[in-house]
Order: sequence, then C-alpha cells, then structure tokens
Amino acid sequence: MTDDLELTPDPNDPNADWYAPKEADPRAFTRVAVLGAGTMGHGIAQVCAMAGYGVRLYDVDLVSVEMGMERIRKNLDKGVKLGKVAPAVRETTLAGLSTTTDLGEALSGAGLVVEAAPEKLEIKKEIFFRVEEKVGDDTILATNTSSISIDSIASVLERPGRFLGLHFFNPVFIMELVEVVVGEATSQETLDVAAKFVTRLDKEPVVVRDTPGFASSRLGVALGLEAMRMLEANVATVKDIDRAMELGYRHPMGPLKLTDLVGLDVRLGIAEYLFSELGSEVFRPPEILRRMVAEGKTGKKSGVGFYDWREVGDR
Ligand SMILES: NC(=O)c1ccc[n+]([C@@H]2O[C@H](COP(=O)([O-])OP(=O)(O)OC[C@H]3O[C@@H](n4cnc5c(N)ncnc54)[C@H](O)[C@@H]3O)[C@@H](O)[C@H]2O)c1
Repeated sequence: MTDDLELTPDPNDPNADWYAPKEADPRAFTRVAVLGAGTMGHGIAQVCAMAGYGVRLYDVDLVSVEMGMERIRKNLDKGVKLGKVAPAVRETTLAGLSTTTDLGEALSGAGLVVEAAPEKLEIKKEIFFRVEEKVGDDTILATNTSSISIDSIASVLERPGRFLGLHFFNPVFIMELVEVVVGEATSQETLDVAAKFVTRLDKEPVVVRDTPGFASSRLGVALGLEAMRMLEANVATVKDIDRAMELGYRHPMGPLKLTDLVGLDVRLGIAEYLFSELGSEVFRPPEILRRMVAEGKTGKKSGVGFYDWREVGDR
C-alpha cells in the first residue's frame, strides 16, 4: 500500500527533500528495455544509454524503430557540434543501443522495462500482460504514461509491487524532471531502485501518488486547454498568448507552443481522460483542439499545429 511507503523523510521540515532515494542500490541492473520508439521512447533510450545502461529500443513498427534510432543519432551529432556531448560519449552511447521489433529479444536480460507506447489504457495493459510473461521476477516495470492510472495498468500484473510510473518530459535529453508515480501496490524497494535510476540519468525524481494527471499533467494540461479557449474567444493571437506566459510568468515556453511539441493528439487524449476521471469543465477538450487533430494538425511532428513548423522548425 502506498500509505506505508517512505515518501517524506520529515514532513515537518519544509526544507527537506520530499523524497530522497536511499544510498544503497538494492538491485543494480545494467540493461534497460524501452518499448515504443516515438517522441518519448527514443529520448528515454538515449538518456539511458548515455548513463551507461545497455538499451534495447523496441517498437511494433520497423519504420518507427529505425526513425527513433535516427533521431538519437541526430541528437547526439547536434550535441557534439554544440560542444555539449563529448565525441567519446556519442560513440559509447550508440554502442550501448540496439533496436528490435521482437519483444522477447527486447526484454532479454532487462532489469528495467520502460514502456512509451501510445496513451491508451488497452494498449498498455496488453503490453504489460505480455511483458510479465517474458521477464524475471526481479525486473522492474515502468510506464511513461502522462495521465493514465498506474493502478489500472497494474491490474493485469501478477506482481504489481514491481510496477510504477516513470513520467519523463519532452525533450527527454533536456528536461530534468521525472515524476515517479507510485500505485497502491508499488513496493518500497521498487520506488527506491527507480528513484535511484532516475538520479543516475542526471534527472530529478519527484514522487507522486497515483492520481489522474499526477502533478504536472493536471496543471500543465489545464493551462494549455484554457489557452485554446482564449484563442477561440479571440482574446489574443497564438504568439501573444504564449508571450504573456513567457514574459509575465517566466515560463520557458508558452502553453500553445508546448502543446505543439507534446502533440495535439497526445494532449487531446489526456484531456479526454482527465475530463472523464475528474469531471471538471477545466478538462473538457475545446472544439479547436478536436478540429485540429481531425485535420491532422498534430503539432511539430506533423509540421503544423498552432505554429507552422515546416520551414524553419521553430515558427
Ligand atoms: N509526447 C510527449 O510530450 C509525452 C510526454 C510525457 C509522456 N508521454 C507519454 O509517453 C507515451 C508515448 O508518447 P509519445 O509521444 O512518445 O507517442 P508516439 O506516438 O510518438 O510514439 C508511440 C510509439 O509506440 C509505438 N507502439 C504502438 N503500439 C505499440 C506496442 N504495442 N508496443 C510498443 N510500441 C508500440 C508506435 O509505433 C510509436 O512509435 C504516452 O503514454 C504519452 O502519454 C508523452
């Protein structure tokens, strides 16, 4: 039960870290399997390989897995060019990565499995049902879901104590936060190992109980949807709404541009889920979002969203 977990070292000390993983790593592992090679999966695979893990990147679709690998190569090349990645790290990272469309091969020897498949409960349940049949009892299983309940995915597992959420942010290579989402059944040991793993990736774990949207998506999506409603009501232009938050609130990026990066289809899926779970009008998907997704304007990945990304990549 999550109530038994040590989530807060000292609740009376406002300066204490909310959660600090234990020093000793109870179960060291060297291999990670990443399932799904899209926007998030390729980035997760990259940072794991950069941290020295042997990584197998798996996708049901051969083109996607090849594209994922290509994106990693491009990221690393850009990092080297900008002087942010040492050429030797580029080499060891690529050497530590392999791709496959064979699930058994992907999972072989993995101490941790991170799933980054589409945001659909049924897809995730089916994946973990199949994964549990193929991994050892000690393998930790994690989902990168942005909003789906950890407990509802864990319902297909025989050993749900080894399951939790590792919610990475986009772009994974740059973003330092990982929400570590603990379900009802997540064990203390699983939490400790996973949090330690996150710090090894040079990222900061924030531990959240399993609630719809966790901490970040619930707040972030609320902001994005309100920005869309403001656009529908002609309150201001796309650019001005974004600049208002960037300059007025010091957000590094406005809510509409962020939606373009996340993907309008991904955001629509999360909004629909939060609306059904929390029942708040705040999360009812605006008409403009539904229309743009239906027209294929899913943001940066399609070339068009609230901004036009086709020519310069950042307009
Ligand atoms: N896009 C974001 O900014 C973001 C941020 C945080 C978390 N997430 C979450 O990460 C997950 C992945 O999102 P994404 O944006 O990378 O999606 P995406 O559509 O870019 O990639 C999903 C990949 O999964 C593959 N796939 C489909 N069925 C599969 C299966 N059964 N097994 C393995 N792979 C399968 C697809 O071929 C595709 O390559 C979602 O749960 C999403 O909510 C996304």
